[in-house]
Amino acid sequence: MEVVVLDTPAEVASLAADTIEDVVRSGASAGTPAVLGLATGSTPLATYDELIRRARDGRGPSYDGVETFNLDEYVGLPDGHEQSYLATIRREFTDAIGIPPERVHGPDPTAETLPTAGERYEAAIVAAGGIEVQILGIGSDGHLAFNEPGSSLASLTRIKTLTATTRKDNARFFGSPDAVPRHVLTQGLGTITRAGHLLMLATGEGKAEAVAAAVEGPVSATCPASVLQLHPHVSVLLDEAAASRLVRLDYYREVYAGKPDWQGL
Ligand code: F6R
Repeated sequence: MEVVVLDTPAEVASLAADTIEDVVRSGASAGTPAVLGLATGSTPLATYDELIRRARDGRGPSYDGVETFNLDEYVGLPDGHEQSYLATIRREFTDAIGIPPERVHGPDPTAETLPTAGERYEAAIVAAGGIEVQILGIGSDGHLAFNEPGSSLASLTRIKTLTATTRKDNARFFGSPDAVPRHVLTQGLGTITRAGHLLMLATGEGKAEAVAAAVEGPVSATCPASVLQLHPHVSVLLDEAAASRLVRLDYYREVYAGKPDWQGL
């Protein structure tokens, strides 16, 4: 796992955007458009904004043929609800960057077909060729996607119940914790670790404890994000505040400062 500590959230966004663009560019030049795994929530917004800005300035790659898969989706929202994660990712990223809605995927929360939603989503990811780079945030309770503490490290896409902590954290999008749906569909930790490269972003003091548990704590379902330690290609991009509880902070800085020029993330 490579831990990169940067001065500001803007630097985190810029490095994450570089990494996504590299994957999109190499897909375009190989004739096999990239498959991106996208997270919603506040953390990746600065990265999406940076990618959109570069595209508008004519500095971005072509997103022709690129497909995207969301990590998760609320269950029980009315059709077309603005806080559904599919609507959110279109509004905040894919529409602006020019990826058409039919290439933007999320788990299907339709009530009538919920029992098969997980296996259908797994099959769709496989049919697309698998996710090359997966953007991840981390919950203040250590969740990854909506795999709450106690989730199996081998889990696949399925329905989950949100913890009170997560419903409180997400109340800002719904007005109150009670208005946040209780159930979600989420890629499992096993699904996430099938992606080629995991790019976890965390900014702000509120994430410092969860980041320390994920990166330096034991691998345990108690901290779902600790599953990252089992993956061969993980980049954790942090600002100073999110990194503030890491014990090996000086070492991570030394490693990144001495990183060979030829080695990307
Ligand atoms: C979002 C997701 C969640 C968020 C996490 C952090 O698709 O799966 O795991 O990444 O809750 O959210 P923010 O970034 O809003 O702090």
